[in-house]
Amino acid sequence: MRIDFTLNGKKQSLEQTAGTRLSTVLRDHNCTDVKLGCSAGDCGSCTVLLDGKAVCSCLTSMASVDNADIQTPAYLAAEHPTTLLLKKRFLEHGAAQCGICIPGMLAAATALLEDNPHPTEEQVQTGLSGVLCRCTGYRKIIDAVMGKPTTAEESTQTIGSSVIKLDGLGKVDGTALFGDDVAPNDTLELIVIRSPHQYADFKFGSVDDWALGQPGVVKVLSAADIPGINRFGVIPPFIDQPVFAETSVRFRGEAIAAVVFDPKLFTRDALVSFPVDYTQSDAITTVDEALSEGAVLVHTEHEKNVMCKGFVKKGDVETAIHSAEHTLKHNINTAFVEHAYIEPEAGYADCNNGIVRVHGCTQAAYMDKDSLAAILGVSADCVDVVPTDVGGGFGSKLDLSFQPFIALASLVLQRAVRITYSRQESMQSSTKRHPSSMQISLACDKTGKLTALQFDGDFNTGAYASWGPTVANRVPVHASGPYYLPNYQASAAGIYTHNMPAGAFRGFGVPQAAIVQETAFDIMADKLGCDRLEFRINNALDNHMQTTTGQVFERSVGIKACLQALQSTWIKVYESTERKNQEAAASGSDYRYGVGIASGWYGCGNTSLPNPSTIRAGIKPNGTLCLHQGAIDIGQGSNTVISQIFAQALGASIDNITLVSADTALTPDAGKTSASRQTYVSGNAAKLCGESLRGKLLRASNAHIDSVIHCQDGEVVLTHQGDAPVVLSLETLDTDEHGYTYAAQETYDPPTKALDEHGQGVPYAVYGYAAQCVELQVDIKLGTVQLDNIYAAHDVGKAINPTLAQGQIEGGIAQGIGMALMEEYLPGETENLHDYLIPTIGDVPPIHTQLIEVPDEHGPYGAKGLGEHVLIPTAPAILNAIRHATGAVVKTIPATPERVLAALKQSGQQS
Ligand code: FES
Repeated sequence: MRIDFTLNGKKQSLEQTAGTRLSTVLRDHNCTDVKLGCSAGDCGSCTVLLDGKAVCSCLTSMASVDNADIQTPAYLAAEHPTTLLLKKRFLEHGAAQCGICIPGMLAAATALLEDNPHPTEEQVQTGLSGVLCRCTGYRKIIDAVMGKPTTAEESTQTIGSSVIKLDGLGKVDGTALFGDDVAPNDTLELIVIRSPHQYADFKFGSVDDWALGQPGVVKVLSAADIPGINRFGVIPPFIDQPVFAETSVRFRGEAIAAVVFDPKLFTRDALVSFPVDYTQSDAITTVDEALSEGAVLVHTEHEKNVMCKGFVKKGDVETAIHSAEHTLKHNINTAFVEHAYIEPEAGYADCNNGIVRVHGCTQAAYMDKDSLAAILGVSADCVDVVPTDVGGGFGSKLDLSFQPFIALASLVLQRAVRITYSRQESMQSSTKRHPSSMQISLACDKTGKLTALQFDGDFNTGAYASWGPTVANRVPVHASGPYYLPNYQASAAGIYTHNMPAGAFRGFGVPQAAIVQETAFDIMADKLGCDRLEFRINNALDNHMQTTTGQVFERSVGIKACLQALQSTWIKVYESTERKNQEAAASGSDYRYGVGIASGWYGCGNTSLPNPSTIRAGIKPNGTLCLHQGAIDIGQGSNTVISQIFAQALGASIDNITLVSADTALTPDAGKTSASRQTYVSGNAAKLCGESLRGKLLRASNAHIDSVIHCQDGEVVLTHQGDAPVVLSLETLDTDEHGYTYAAQETYDPPTKALDEHGQGVPYAVYGYAAQCVELQVDIKLGTVQLDNIYAAHDVGKAINPTLAQGQIEGGIAQGIGMALMEEYLPGETENLHDYLIPTIGDVPPIHTQLIEVPDEHGPYGAKGLGEHVLIPTAPAILNAIRHATGAVVKTIPATPERVLAALKQSGQQS
């Protein structure tokens, strides 16, 4: 049918089938500001205005837009006065992290403010309820829409200022380009054929005949087409995942083949006849099954399905527990948790002059480059990785996913090939947070001092190792929490099963371990009759005390400061919940009120492994000051924070810098964006780089040592107070191989030491610390939990950018809420965003953050990492508050209403 409509102010008249999705037509019209997160109306990232009303364009048929006026976010952000105001506010509030949801948010917010220019918080939550955000925790978005004040600064040379994100504008106005936005027109497409079974042998039929019979099929790829190694992974002894399974599949969603096609000729429905036969076997899905006598081995070389184990031992835990005044045993099970970034995996690859260039979303450009070279059987020089904007990662985009398929296709066909995962494909095949089965034993003396802690945890690592070894090694180091334990023993094992691989997810197993440790501490405190916060303060790690790995810090241990920062709030909220509970009991109300506290710590960077970052900067003859910053910004703000550190070290204003973001052809290796390492490790490299460049300029100019530096047209100007400026002319100078007159490149690698056979050593140079307090209410008839307030105190060493640090904390807390109360990935059951629930804008309560600054001796200007710390205390604090409110001890996470009710029953609070 012919459909007439207005798109962004221009009349359109298109021949379309009535049921075509509006989102498809918009994307075909290069509206890359319309983001597709699910194509099912669950995420709202494709929200546009239809006659002024916010609609999901993926659920809007073309028939329904006949004679309508459609406005997409980028158009609104350029033209609409209300959106222009919102755009400014979003920027100032740091309301965009990765930015993938923000165009949809902005469109929904525009519609809201057009109806109601001064909405209440509740009205904002209702108005924006159709759009999911996985990064921000929504609080800064709410503040931006309500027009609350900020402390944002546009330009400064100092750290400690809330500089507006350098890459924020594109994320807010819809012009940022993500993995699905960058392929040239007429690029071939690729779709992966994936196993519908968890464990099966398979055989192909006549693939060639099938391909010949399908219009538009250009090539079918399988394991036989891989010129290099048909394996990838991230830890060298555990490179075990095939790009394409060869004869059997080990998880539902595993790739067996890929079809490259011309999208103008091929219809995806043809894939139902793809010739493959599966012979299914009984899959091992749980750790108990995997460890049971006679269980099938997921990998024959791993006895009892044990991938690997980690271990830390200090003192004599058995004797200490045996002789203790008070002891306690506790256990917790947790579920697979999906990363649920709003951007499904996407990108394209091309091959020119023997170089394969892979463009797309990733957290680890150089790791991808090396792995792809091994798969393609070429040298690393023949592969470049060009990260696009990344629509959320949280650890999962550290692993290769789509890249091998399109890299191989582009190499084989010598053409550009693109891919975009569907939401289901993303959820089926991407890594998850490890489910865990954890037991803990505690011992205390009669004064309430902890004397011993024993931890044992099994972690379901799925079919392939991914980051499982990191989890197994990191958990035993951290399972004490940030407390002093004279006797300690912790072991963690990664166990193979027939599930999608579990990998890196914000914390590498530490959030799971914190749940059992912090809930056990709470029960122990009650058993001793101690205030639960006081118990923690009395046992907190401090300067000059040995950690569980025997490490001693002289002045940077910040956990006591975090706990003490929450003390007055704790007392106030505790008294208020007592009062409310008395009133509820007297009135027969179904609500019970509780307050919970929990702590967390996290070592920044790799565990006892080299972990370098390199940063380069240079000044072009025309005076352009370039910072080659390869720490991939997945929304956490590394582009801005590292620029701030560099500017401070150089003595220049941040707005003097031209940022060159991650690209393996342009930026040196700044390592992967994981393990809360970028502010600390790459930040240190940036600081060294800035200092080095400053030294060169001062030496060349003989200017005052405290000069401020400014690069401009063909010169560097160095000024000091009232002195006459010193000018370095650039245009006649020789340039280096990168085209720079003056340049510096510096590397920083954290000083760590290998752990011995007892796990003793220096696993991390820097730890960050956190404590959170949760105020909530539980409906004891329904088992539902409502969060009222969360109070967070985080020791960041030095807040380089306070607004961005707060944003990290709020976003992490939202993920902690999901982990505690609602998120459970079940293969085959929750493979979409309506069955798999993540917190919505209505699920995140007000978050009150205190940034604590206990400087670290190794951190740049004292800064510590923050990215993972932010969610570690959240789930245990919630569980502790539920127990305080009701007496219910929930031992299987998430604490869904059914599980809360079951725990209530067990505690005798509910019949
Ligand atoms: Fe909302 Fe990343 S900023 S999903």
